[in-house]
Amino acid sequence: MKAALLRELNADLEIRDDVGLVDLGPGQVHVKLVSSGVCHSDLSAQNGTIPSGTPVVLGHEGAGVIQEVGPGVDGVKAGDHVIVSFTPACRKCRACLRGQSNLCEMMGQMATSANFVIGGNRVAGFCGCGTFSQEMIVPEAAVVKVDDDIPLDIVSLIGCGVMTGVGAAINTADIRPGTSVVVFGAGGVGIAAIQGARIAGAAEIVAVDKVESKLEMAKRFGATHAVKPEDLPGVQQEVTRGEGFDYALECIGNPNTIRATFDAARRGGTAVIVGVGRLTEVVQFSAFELFFHEKNLKGSMYGSANVRVDFDRLLRLWRQGKLDLEGMISRRIKVDDVNGAFRAMQAGEVIRSVIEF
Ligand SMILES: NC(=O)c1ccc[n+]([C@@H]2O[C@H](COP(=O)([O-])OP(=O)(O)OC[C@H]3O[C@@H](n4cnc5c(N)ncnc54)[C@H](O)[C@@H]3O)[C@@H](O)[C@H]2O)c1
Ligand SMILES: [Zn+2]
Ligand SMILES: [Zn+2]
Repeated sequence: MKAALLRELNADLEIRDDVGLVDLGPGQVHVKLVSSGVCHSDLSAQNGTIPSGTPVVLGHEGAGVIQEVGPGVDGVKAGDHVIVSFTPACRKCRACLRGQSNLCEMMGQMATSANFVIGGNRVAGFCGCGTFSQEMIVPEAAVVKVDDDIPLDIVSLIGCGVMTGVGAAINTADIRPGTSVVVFGAGGVGIAAIQGARIAGAAEIVAVDKVESKLEMAKRFGATHAVKPEDLPGVQQEVTRGEGFDYALECIGNPNTIRATFDAARRGGTAVIVGVGRLTEVVQFSAFELFFHEKNLKGSMYGSANVRVDFDRLLRLWRQGKLDLEGMISRRIKVDDVNGAFRAMQAGEVIRSVIEF
């Protein structure tokens, strides 16, 4: 079968048609992908921002149909439609039992299992997935069944970007109605965060992006204001009377914008960091300001979501026309064009490219 392989850092992905799968083991499921979104984290694996190891089949935002299940799998069966969760939700580990399944302890095990076979060697999928492939094997814990009438070509975005962004707004930040929000970065995750803020009832939602076309997009999805970074101080003064925002969300992954996000939150407000920077990059805070401004600084992993509950919440919002997924798909492509999709993302030209198999 066909898959896009990262052979070494900073190289173009190799589109191979000789990729196989290992035999299905206990607790595993074999998924045939219908679609996969292209997330910035895939690009970050390619350039080494996110350490993934190579070779690796990239892609971690997908939806498809179960082909076969391994011994002991009783939650899904062949023919079921699923969205893939790049973090398993095993329901057994301490994190899952505490109600923080987005931090499931099985994540490391899933990420290091190598279920593809290329040239006789076992190869891992990114985050234990590998959705830039026609088929893949993942633990049962990493799939969430959806109704058969859900269009799988649209909902793959829920598997990462949409859950991450909406969840950062409604779960991690817990945005209250009638508040002010600023979102740094209006890509797939940022647009989802803007939609989350709109759904939560924020009064003002300010989008910040360096690309002009993204600012226009942001307004279509619910931003009340959309500005380049250099124009934020003026809008912040106007919207918050200089106080700063109730909530500030970073959806870029850059130390400078992480710092700017913290600065944009008001005293006692909340700054949520969703973007992923390099392990070696550092953000500085003075030893005085943390206490004095009493801001809540929160990381957000996978939108602080319980995917078994929250995917369904998102699907119900989508069914009622309250969450726009179709509008987030800028391009529908074939897996052969994934390098072009990476370049379009780097150039700021797309919210999401979606691979159709
Ligand atoms: N926390 C999580 O669980 C999680 C999950 C998925 C993705 N992410 C991370 O979220 C981030 C965003 O992902 P995405 O898929 O939306 O990426 P994207 O490339 O689609 O969007 C990033 C946006 O930021 C803008 N931007 C870049 N640098 C900027 C700057 N200096 N000032 C203003 N705007 C700037 C770009 O123009 C673009 O619109 C990435 O770091 C990704 O790795 C985190
Ligand atoms: Zn992602
Ligand atoms: Zn778990």
